Amino acid sequence: MSEQANGLLSGKTCVVMGVQNQWSIAWVIAEAMARAGAQVAITYVDERARKNAETLAAKAPGMRTFVCNVQDDAEIDALAQALKDEYGSIDTLVHSIAYAPADELKNPFVQTTRDGFRIALEISVYSLIAVARALAPVMNEGGSILTMTYLGADRVFPQYNVMGVAKAALEATVRYLAGDLGARGIRVNAISAGPIKTASARGIPGFSSMQQEAAEKSPLGKVFGPQHVAGTAVFLASDAAAGLTGDTIFVDGGYHAMGI
Ligand SMILES: NC(=O)c1ccc[n+]([C@@H]2O[C@H](COP(=O)([O-])OP(=O)(O)OC[C@H]3O[C@@H](n4cnc5c(N)ncnc54)[C@H](O)[C@@H]3O)[C@@H](O)[C@H]2O)c1
Repeated sequence: MSEQANGLLSGKTCVVMGVQNQWSIAWVIAEAMARAGAQVAITYVDERARKNAETLAAKAPGMRTFVCNVQDDAEIDALAQALKDEYGSIDTLVHSIAYAPADELKNPFVQTTRDGFRIALEISVYSLIAVARALAPVMNEGGSILTMTYLGADRVFPQYNVMGVAKAALEATVRYLAGDLGARGIRVNAISAGPIKTASARGIPGFSSMQQEAAEKSPLGKVFGPQHVAGTAVFLASDAAAGLTGDTIFVDGGYHAMGI
């Protein structure tokens, strides 16, 4: 059955943050949510990313675009207001945003700088708290917040460095937000994707060997792409996942379960 045929997200409004280009996991999720019947809005970081986002959104009837740099509280508040004006309320917020300065991924982890640590955790983790706070008042009961994490939160992957620390903090943040927002009927979960070739992934030295290793060692024996992550995102945004919050769901072919 196609996603459209089962209409898992019919009647829902989903906001997907973090579209940089057609390879962005955010974009693949946005497309899948639209196919599943949702009204979808995407966000992009700045003027340079606007053209890409608008060109992509033009492929999907009715998809709107909004700018939001998560380092700027005024832009987050403006996004919440713009969504309220446009839709009245929303059902799903997807946070697919991360950043660490390039040097932090090149140098040995022990060389992590104070500034690099602050920037990585501010953009990749604090931003989830900030957007959840701003957008929760615009969210309907039964709403779903999702973010994207990686196994580097639990295990050492050479050169993933401060992003591993950021992902560990992100997963803890998911649990604390779930604890806070459950009273409003809002669920908060993370998807832990396997290695997927995107602009951000290209910034991680040795990314290809991470992908090869995952394909060779995972029980399902192959790399899973953004469309598989998107399928799980559609499920988590849907009422079929009504009992699921505070969790990290792995979409990595089972790689995380293996010892050797
Ligand atoms: N690609 C992978 O292998 C993989 C695996 C697991 C998890 N993830 C996670 O998935 C998410 C999306 O990454 P991706 O691989 O699609 O790469 P991507 O580069 O396409 O997406 C990262 C996004 O973060 C945005 N961003 C960075 N700084 C920002 C800021 N200040 N304000 C707003 N947006 C900002 C970028 O503009 C971009 O849209 C990230 O959290 C990443 O860590 C990726």
